[in-house]
Amino acid sequence: MVQKRVLLLRYSQTGQTREVSDRIIAPLRQAGIHVDCVEIQPRQTYPFPWPFLRFLEIFPEAIQGIGPTLDTVELPGADDYALVILAYPVWYLSPALPIASFLNSPQAQALLIGKPVITVVTARNMWVTAQQSVAQKLSTLGARLLDHIALVDPAPALITFITTLRWIVSGKRQQQPLGLPDAGLAAEQIAQCRRFGLALVQALAMDQEQKGAALLRGLEACRVDPAMAVSEKIGFRSFYFWSLLLCRIGPQGSVARRLGVLMYLCILITLICTVVPITMLLRKLVFALSPKRAKAMQAALELPSGNGSERMTEFAR
Ligand SMILES: Cc1cc2nc3c(=O)[nH]c(=O)nc-3n(C[C@H](O)[C@H](O)[C@H](O)COP(=O)(O)O)c2cc1C
Repeated sequence: MVQKRVLLLRYSQTGQTREVSDRIIAPLRQAGIHVDCVEIQPRQTYPFPWPFLRFLEIFPEAIQGIGPTLDTVELPGADDYALVILAYPVWYLSPALPIASFLNSPQAQALLIGKPVITVVTARNMWVTAQQSVAQKLSTLGARLLDHIALVDPAPALITFITTLRWIVSGKRQQQPLGLPDAGLAAEQIAQCRRFGLALVQALAMDQEQKGAALLRGLEACRVDPAMAVSEKIGFRSFYFWSLLLCRIGPQGSVARRLGVLMYLCILITLICTVVPITMLLRKLVFALSPKRAKAMQAALELPSGNGSERMTEFAR
């Protein structure tokens, strides 16, 4: 029997996507499946912790998908892969910039055409628009999106807004002010990602990746809050409008760009504290009155893997 080969392509800045994807591929390697792990790296790395203005001023390019030049991406298995896993973090409701660069490259086109792909995203809490743009890009490249796994921070949104921002600009994940929880994913969430790898081992043994149906159903692969998804969509439109404007007024590092993003930040904070909670509340009310509509919207956004849990015990090892 020919040994199957799997490619894990990933970018991770603060390590969460790396840890999650490591957990997913561990059972594959234990089962003797050859996994090539390729780190997508920009030629000039992004700083961590982020200087506050630098963190803000990349937002127009993130929204527009204008990524950095990448280090050469070496792909040991060329077009030998039975399955490709693409793991990325969200930056400004979009895929992190190095991933945008990779998906726009001729290499991605050559690699992904006709290939079954599983996407894995880690985010604070908003990944839907980023995934929609990745799914769209994969479809344009001729890839077949089989599954999607999404991991978000377990704490409430307003708390993670504070803890994530503090982590990003100070590098401190723990010891948050006012007794707030640690930023990021819980260790248990990461450890439990092993279930996806176990299910993939079984699916690959039965050649299921060639059939086109999702391989990770019933494993709580991703969950969407429909009210949050609507807020995200509205937020993305506002980001999009401002990103066009800010790209025009000056390049990254210029005084004009920095003043522009600071002005937008003031508007954004006002929106986050006023319009966002009010619209979230209204949406929740509307969805409570029409639960069928909310369920249908949720199910559509959770495709292809869904949030069912019927196979959780089978792969909880
Ligand atoms: C520049 C930047 C922008 C971010 N924007 C978002 C966002 O729009 N939505 C979100 O849910 N998380 C956002 N985050 C949080 C990251 O997506 C999250 O912490 C992710 O797990 C980091 O992955 P990594 O540790 O693999 O780098 C952002 C983080 C950074 C650094």
